[in-house]
Amino acid sequence: MQAVNVGIIGLGNVGSGTLAILTENAEQIALKLGFQLRVKALCSRSIAANRLAVDDSIVQTADWREVVAHPEVDIVAELVGGTTDAREIIDGAIAHKKSVVTANKELMALCGAEIWDRAISAGINLAMEASVAGGIPIHSVLREGISGDRVTTLYGILNGTSNYILTEIEKHGSSFDDVLKDAQRLGYAEADPSADVDGYDARSKLAILAALAFGEKITPSDIYTEGIRRILPLDFQYAHKLGHTIRLICGAHQTHAGLILSVRPALLPQSTILAGVQGAYNAVWVRGKYGEDTFYYGRGAGASPTGVAVVSDLMRVAREIRCGSPERVSPFAHERLGEYKPIPVTLQHSAYYLRFRVMDRPGIIASLARVLAEKEISLEAVLQLPSDNRRDLPFVITVEPTSEHSIREALQEMSAHDFLVEPPFAMPMERSL
Ligand SMILES: NC(=O)c1ccc[n+]([C@@H]2O[C@H](COP(=O)([O-])OP(=O)(O)OC[C@H]3O[C@@H](n4cnc5c(N)ncnc54)[C@H](OP(=O)(O)O)[C@@H]3O)[C@@H](O)[C@H]2O)c1
Repeated sequence: MQAVNVGIIGLGNVGSGTLAILTENAEQIALKLGFQLRVKALCSRSIAANRLAVDDSIVQTADWREVVAHPEVDIVAELVGGTTDAREIIDGAIAHKKSVVTANKELMALCGAEIWDRAISAGINLAMEASVAGGIPIHSVLREGISGDRVTTLYGILNGTSNYILTEIEKHGSSFDDVLKDAQRLGYAEADPSADVDGYDARSKLAILAALAFGEKITPSDIYTEGIRRILPLDFQYAHKLGHTIRLICGAHQTHAGLILSVRPALLPQSTILAGVQGAYNAVWVRGKYGEDTFYYGRGAGASPTGVAVVSDLMRVAREIRCGSPERVSPFAHERLGEYKPIPVTLQHSAYYLRFRVMDRPGIIASLARVLAEKEISLEAVLQLPSDNRRDLPFVITVEPTSEHSIREALQEMSAHDFLVEPPFAMPMERSL
């Protein structure tokens, strides 16, 4: 059967990983497909200065328009990232009736559903496996593997940088700032770490997974998002005392009132499988009404794991081009996505961990307990690890399940107390895992 030709735009981490796999694994890929998947064009802005030692028949250009317009390119791999050039590239590819494979979580979370609509109208395919949890084929799972189920809850650890930072704080007791600096030096964190440590990268990924799992188009900025900057080494000490650990959790829960979505640090029981996810690894735990619990684990990023996801998408799309597939599966697992606004996270019910840092004096616990009682929140435990710093004394209160609304009101009232060194810090304690 005739080869299917690919144009790769973007030759950074993911693009170079993709190219290496397509080259080194070409024989296996052809055996699996029954035809060759051939690289026809390569593009990056700096390609003139970094020409690649590849076959002369492969076009090398700094202008992506040459790739999308190339008459022999069947599939365009958009691997530049961001929402400006990438959008133009995908629009250009669709206009030229080329199928598209992308790793772009930001763009797909923002307007993937519209892009898919245009792809359908143009009769081409769109695939985006690499956009969430790099090396974990979670799109395939939600799109096909467990599509017969009805997903009720999904929890993900979807940002490798944050998970690396949290597990380093946990292992070594170092501060967030010190671990972040090390992570930047080792290349695990960007010079501007905000997208990772403030939860925005994870939020884009959750918006995509929520679309796949629940069939709803969710605007990422509607997802409650909180990063990991406030986590202290002592939070892990207290969490361990409570038999828990802390992870940045992307959560999606279908409740009677609607879908609650959040990205936030949370306490997880140490006995759960998600609590064992260490370093830059990612994981997704899904509960379905019928199939119950399934769990997916692997590398969330990196040239080769993400490259595998891109190449596998290229193979799937190539098969559809060569063999035809009238019943193509939507990249969002649903024929059409609903327009959806998640219900406010304040409606969530959970047990909470409340951490305080105070200038010590008598009566502090009594005043805080009074505020909790006024809000009808039941105190579960008070924990205080030994400390001789009376001017910055930490302790923790855990409370029984209550609404986030009540907790927020209580925290606001508590924040007025002049004995606090900083505003109280709250995290939900996940118990439904
Ligand atoms: N890194 C990961 O592990 C990972 C994992 C999952 C998903 N992703 C996603 O994959 C995408 C790519 O990420 P990356 O880490 O590979 O990025 P990267 O290392 O920054 O590489 C980006 C590449 O795109 C090229 N580029 C940018 N704008 C261009 C334009 N207008 N025309 C032509 N080339 C252009 C750059 O070329 P020059 O260098 O010549 O400027 C560079 O080769 C992003 O959407 C990212 O979110 C990444």
